Amino acid sequence: MLKPLFTRDQIANKVAEMGQQITHDFSGQSVVLIGVLKGACLFLSDLARQIKLDATFDFIAVSSYGAARQSAGEVQLIKDVTTPLQGQNVILVEDILDTGLTLSFLKKLFAARQPRALKTAALLDKTSRRLVPVEGDYIGFQIPDEFVVGYGLDYAERYRNLPDICVLVNDTPK
Ligand code: IMP
Ligand code: MG
Repeated sequence: MLKPLFTRDQIANKVAEMGQQITHDFSGQSVVLIGVLKGACLFLSDLARQIKLDATFDFIAVSSYGAARQSAGEVQLIKDVTTPLQGQNVILVEDILDTGLTLSFLKKLFAARQPRALKTAALLDKTSRRLVPVEGDYIGFQIPDEFVVGYGLDYAERYRNLPDICVLVNDTPK
């Protein structure tokens, strides 16, 4: 069962706020947005349109949960960016911060490429689930420890196309 958590209007308002903040923080500069496939795809496309700066984007893919709800604990890069990042203002765009394993892996990976700035934007944050101490710079909503789908977020690849973010209540086959 799907229980609505954030409507498309609430999401749009929050994404607009985040875009304004980024526009303000990088005023007069350019930014490279790096979306983490596939979940951040819809968020990046909306966020990019709220950033009134010279912006480019690129995508990476990391190993996913597959059909399981729990992270396997180890993160692997499956697809890298083609954009050179040295001296650039890089903003990693993630759908959700959960254990923090993905973000801490990505921060290390991209810091090594010597960007001018390295920031993270995540629409959702489940702080209570953190296994490694890592924080996002631009956070949309803090959420409780519940499994959510929609607006790019999936369960076994489904529900990414829901316009609203919903809690997936536990009645699906494991
Ligand atoms: P972390 O490495 O545990 O922080 O995992 C982050 C990734 O786990 C996200 O990019 C999502 O793909 C996935 N994830 C974590 N929580 C959820 C959820 O509630 N719904 C859907 N995907 C999730
Ligand atoms: Mg993801």
